Amino acid sequence: MKILKSMLLIATAMMVVVSCESKKDSPTNKIQKILALYYSQTSNTKTVAQEIATRLHADIEEITMVNPYNGDFQNTIERCIQEREQGIIPEIQPVVSDIANYDVIFIGYPIWFGTYAPPIAAFLDKVDLSGKKIVPFCTFGSGGLESSVKNLIEQQPHAEVLSGYGIRAARLDEAPNEIDQFLKANGFLEGEYVQLADFPEQHPVNKDEADIFDSAVGNYPMIHATAKTVAVRTIPEGMEYLFTAIDLPRENDPKLPPTGEMQVYVTVANGKAPVFTKVIR
Ligand SMILES: Cc1cc2nc3c(=O)[nH]c(=O)nc-3n(C[C@H](O)[C@H](O)[C@H](O)COP(=O)(O)O)c2cc1C
Repeated sequence: MKILKSMLLIATAMMVVVSCESKKDSPTNKIQKILALYYSQTSNTKTVAQEIATRLHADIEEITMVNPYNGDFQNTIERCIQEREQGIIPEIQPVVSDIANYDVIFIGYPIWFGTYAPPIAAFLDKVDLSGKKIVPFCTFGSGGLESSVKNLIEQQPHAEVLSGYGIRAARLDEAPNEIDQFLKANGFLEGEYVQLADFPEQHPVNKDEADIFDSAVGNYPMIHATAKTVAVRTIPEGMEYLFTAIDLPRENDPKLPPTGEMQVYVTVANGKAPVFTKVIR
């Protein structure tokens, strides 16, 4: 118990509050013009885009389609699969904002099939973002920020692409606070933010940790996995766990092959049930 307490104290000490000066309008930097450009089918990403634009007093524009997806999940999946099979990137309406006028462009999207939704691929296909600072942001069911950022860099190799911000649709209520911290940590807003310590080495999961994992992912249909190893760190609201987990074979659909190893981030806020925040496959 004593050892556990001192480990917690060390972990807490490693979580530091940092103060930062905004790059947007600090006297040493020229004022940066910022655009928040986004596509959103069911408004989750729109909510995040509005939050970012309001906090930064940035311009905001929604990307719309010539022939929009109809908002129905199954129908959208089926149309996307067809489009992918036929190599079709759906057409979007012209973007009204003059991209050349902006230094920083926040690009927002829902994750579809592990990357940005096709209307964003269509935009990235048409535009040259060389020399621009790009800040990706997204909403997702379980994850996809990292893979989408990798694809964005491949599609716009001469842009400066930040690692971005992503949030599960189920955790949208947490977005205002997380966005505030993200904008401060990246110098877009002045003020204090918490810099978390790196996760320590992973260790094999014990029974309590396995229960935390199962409780966090148990009801989520897309994750059918067992936790193998974990690392734990302190966060302002409680503890954060980074699990390495392995897909289990699916009894009800044995034809679906296991997808291998995944990283699952889980937070346990004081007094609350475990929640997973993202999965990286
Ligand atoms: C066609 C389609 C594919 C999706 N694919 C994924 C996916 O691969 N991974 C994921 O975590 N969520 C996936 N989702 C969930 C969406 O990313 C999530 O609901 C998102 O918040 C929707 O954003 P929006 O309300 O801005 O449209 C998918 C949703 C749809 C409609």
